[in-house]
Amino acid sequence: METKVYKVQEDNIDLNIIKQAADIIKSGQLVSFPTETVYGLGADGLNEEAVKKIYKAKGRPSDNPLILHISEISELDNLVCEVSEEAKLCIKEFWPGPLTMIFKKSKIVPDIITGGLDTVAIRMPSNKIAKELIKHSNTPIAAPSANLSGRPSPTSADHVYEDLNGKIGLIIDGGRCDVGLESTVLDVSGNIPMILRPGKVSYEDLIKILPNTIIDKSILKDGEIPKSPGQKYKHYAPKGQMLVFIGENEKVVSKIKEESRKYTKNGNKVAIIATDESIKEYTTTDGLVLSIGSRHNIKSIGKNLFEVLRKCDDENIDVILSEGFEKDNLGMAIMNRMLKASGGNIIKIK
Ligand code: TXA
Ligand code: MG
Repeated sequence: METKVYKVQEDNIDLNIIKQAADIIKSGQLVSFPTETVYGLGADGLNEEAVKKIYKAKGRPSDNPLILHISEISELDNLVCEVSEEAKLCIKEFWPGPLTMIFKKSKIVPDIITGGLDTVAIRMPSNKIAKELIKHSNTPIAAPSANLSGRPSPTSADHVYEDLNGKIGLIIDGGRCDVGLESTVLDVSGNIPMILRPGKVSYEDLIKILPNTIIDKSILKDGEIPKSPGQKYKHYAPKGQMLVFIGENEKVVSKIKEESRKYTKNGNKVAIIATDESIKEYTTTDGLVLSIGSRHNIKSIGKNLFEVLRKCDDENIDVILSEGFEKDNLGMAIMNRMLKASGGNIIKIK
């Protein structure tokens, strides 16, 4: 299959392209599209045969449920049994935006979406291209991140092309994703709201609205069994082995330099994930040195993380030595992805 890539500008959307893409969705085929978090791989969420194609293209395990994307709040009623007061508050505050909520599902949601669970994940994205596509498709769009299963999520159309070229008909190229990390997943189907996956909508944001929100233990700790099916799989993983160092900045830098010498000496190709502040401390003899962004702008770090991990894959890096970050606000999402990418290798330097 030939994969076409059409560029669309979010502030000047070409509706002809959106309509073509919507026709592909309506005909039961797949389209990759930008959202504010990461690129999605979309299909008609109420068409079982179409959704099957998502699992096939990604190589995704069938018990890992998908998010349904809507463009109007009124679409929610059809898809869920009830919307709690807590969910209503979150909708008011955070939709459209990078928050997915888990509800008790209605009968019309196919089992293939939910992996057999009685709950369904729903999100209303704020990216205008995504919204127009959903609106013109006239159906909720099921969309996981548009990467091959196990690879870092795609934050540009190039990343999607790299993973899915030949497997899907169309990629809408809307430029780089603003957040760069997948949406926060919040379970509002039970009595106590629980964060199952951290994202741009942070714990600190959520407790302002829902003070009793709790966090699934597995988010920041390796070895705990996650509540969300998708979180149990090895995720976001670069091909090389990744080690993340946390502690005082100076000590972290000198430890990374020491480790890089050791690994290089043993014949490994090493990459260092530094920051704008620390990059000048390393030299090219330490390895391939990449800046992930500025410590004074944590948003830049979230935006660049997956791109930097993909860069390491492109360069066939064996060992990635990364600086770590504080776990508050967006830092929780960043450190959660680093925990997964490193297979739990987060090392505290004393
Ligand atoms: O930002 C995002 O959420 C992106 C864009 C495209 O919207 N999508 C995305 O989808 O990240 P995916 O499939 O890569 O991640 C969905 C996560 C998985 O961890 C999955 O297990 C969880 O949501 N999930 C889906 N339905 C669930 C349910 N009923 N209960 C618990 N977790 C669920
Ligand atoms: Mg994913």
